[in-house]
Amino acid sequence: MNTGIALLAATAAVISVPVPASGQNPTQAPASAHANQPWRESKLPPEARAKAALAAMTLDEKLRLVFGFSDQALTDVAKVPADIVSPELKNYVITHLVKGSAGFVPGVPRLGIPDQTQTDASMGVRNSFIPSTAMPSSLATAASFDPEVPRAGGRMIGAEARATGHNTMLAGGINLAREPRNGRNFEYVGEDPLLAGTMAGALIDGIQSNRIISTIKHFAVNDQESQRTTLDVTIAAEAMRQSDLLAFELAIEQGRPGSVMCSYNLINGRWGCENDYLLNTVLKHDWGFKGFVMSDWGAVHSTAPAANNGLDQFTGFCCATDQPWFGPPAMKAALRSGAISPQRLDDMVERILWALFATGVVDNPVKVTPTDYVANAAVAQKAAEESLVLLKHDGDLLPLHGVKSIAVIGGNADKGVMAGGGSSDVTPVGGSVMIDQHTFLPSPPLAALSQELPRARIDFDTGADPAAAAALAAKADVVVVFVTQHDSEGNDGSLELSGNQDALVAAVAAANAKTVVVVESGGAILMPWAGQVPAILEAFYPGIRGGPAIARILTGKVNPSGRLPISFPASTDQLAHPQIAGLGPPFDTPTAVTYDEGAAVGYKWHDLKGYKPLWAFGHGLSYTRFVFSNFVAQADGRAIKLSFSIRNAGRRAGKSVAQVYVAPADWQAAAWEAPRRLGAFAKTELKSGKSQRIELSIDPRLLATYEAARNNWRIRAGTYRLMVGEASDAPMQTAEVTLAESIWSAATAQ
Ligand code: BGC
Repeated sequence: MNTGIALLAATAAVISVPVPASGQNPTQAPASAHANQPWRESKLPPEARAKAALAAMTLDEKLRLVFGFSDQALTDVAKVPADIVSPELKNYVITHLVKGSAGFVPGVPRLGIPDQTQTDASMGVRNSFIPSTAMPSSLATAASFDPEVPRAGGRMIGAEARATGHNTMLAGGINLAREPRNGRNFEYVGEDPLLAGTMAGALIDGIQSNRIISTIKHFAVNDQESQRTTLDVTIAAEAMRQSDLLAFELAIEQGRPGSVMCSYNLINGRWGCENDYLLNTVLKHDWGFKGFVMSDWGAVHSTAPAANNGLDQFTGFCCATDQPWFGPPAMKAALRSGAISPQRLDDMVERILWALFATGVVDNPVKVTPTDYVANAAVAQKAAEESLVLLKHDGDLLPLHGVKSIAVIGGNADKGVMAGGGSSDVTPVGGSVMIDQHTFLPSPPLAALSQELPRARIDFDTGADPAAAAALAAKADVVVVFVTQHDSEGNDGSLELSGNQDALVAAVAAANAKTVVVVESGGAILMPWAGQVPAILEAFYPGIRGGPAIARILTGKVNPSGRLPISFPASTDQLAHPQIAGLGPPFDTPTAVTYDEGAAVGYKWHDLKGYKPLWAFGHGLSYTRFVFSNFVAQADGRAIKLSFSIRNAGRRAGKSVAQVYVAPADWQAAAWEAPRRLGAFAKTELKSGKSQRIELSIDPRLLATYEAARNNWRIRAGTYRLMVGEASDAPMQTAEVTLAESIWSAATAQ
């Protein structure tokens, strides 16, 4: 049933178009039918189409686009008073939303403006009723150090979104791992702005290649979960622009998302979703963002202040208990009183329309089609194989071959691999395995190891009793012990492994020196047993084909090539904030945190303080080794151009991850936050004995500091040292470049 007509207000000019019975958009109409409806002309630029569609809309139609519903509206919107949501709108929502997904914004069928059907998130389509392919966690794919991995993943999960009737993904999580215990670090892409911006940008690009919208989130400095809805983050503009905001800036440039989701927290005393500085000044003015800002679910606190400070769309309304800040009555009252101008409402709607036209949502309506889950699982497996990080490998235990007996211990390795919790937790193909209320994906490493090593005898022990596990370990040639650390949206985690897992590893390692530890964690953990085992593989949350990826790396079918996108601290004393602000008191307790480490996040903080981490940013081993040579660099305008050769000096094919760090001769005189920054990186596959010349360039913003008073980027004149190597703590080839002073506006789009 379509009730769009009932919402038309008599005031606006209405172009009469028959309302399709199905509620689908009549976008395939012949050209002549577009005569009075220029927004349907796919050849026109999205700006012109958005303006034309806006001009044809009534007030009530405009208000539909700025007020979104959550999936829970299906059951609960009926109880909302009729003067807040009209019976027609309630009925439209209930009959059109995609059951089990994140949210829904009604379209305007009369004009061919589609409903927005929103699904979480970065690891795959989350719908309680529809199975989908779970990619490795975003942090894992960041460990690939290869943007083609998240791009391929984005293409795949975006195709699944489209095939299940969703035209908007709430995907593109990018908050920096400023707090290593942040329960959502697994949804984000690491601690470095260049790496994070590149990886999130590629994911968004991949998703939007399906002619749907992707939503970068959570804007901004939403770097911990404790008290996430009441936390007031104090951070200087300079620090923000050089850290969290730089990551967003790069990702938005590279991925061109249709929408940005503002965050729950307050930033410098202003809510993320009514933060004039972030939304109007930085995002829309300085960066020239043409799309729209949608709220996180429940992150709106007002009508006119939110709208005027940059929020374009309220999302997630469901129930009589919710505040309908952007509901039709509140918006009409604000328009009547002049608190919101008609121009501002038009701007909100035009931005939403622009995103729908620019990404191709309008011209390519989503429809439900079958999905090839086997092909998609292969994409997830490849991503995991590119992303797992071999942290330690002393001796020649790996790759495993010719082994007669293996003890596999712990981590529910007989049942599956761990996944993170919260809104990104997809319903996997094959069904979730729930253990202690945590989701495991049905991809058991035990079965995968048996498949890779059919002649080996493999015994399993749950690890519940370290003494029993050690007894089994003592009898085996080799032990593979799995440890898991659950992280979830809504809570911050701990660096310490839960339960008896540290004791388990120590007991097993004492019983058998040939012990490999496989870690499935959301982010960094402490490893008090690191010195007692010869090999450690960090698998993060490795996705729906995590089992085979782990087995193929352990057995050498795949040469490991992941590198850490975060530092693993050696202790909580090394953290910028040893205590998590707001941890402990009840949820929603007003809490303040001052990020006085500024832009010195992750390895930059470690460098600044002279701390030696447990595992350094960029670290990761291979079964082969690479040699760098002939490193040359030169200034190229404001940027730096550089090149070097890499040779695979080992006996196996493998992938090198070249990382170029840049350091001013005097970093304090250059006003940097820390002695060095990642300036560029590249992953290259090389056969044994082969070499390749790599050419890269360093973005001027990575050489500059941000000056808030004049809204400038500024590079200080001087000598800059460049270092290329395979990790932030690896031996480096060096080169030097002299840069002239350079100052330019940070309002790059103006
Ligand atoms: C999360 C968002 C998510 C939204 C919709 C919120 O709780 O913070 O990341 O997209 O829910 O599910």
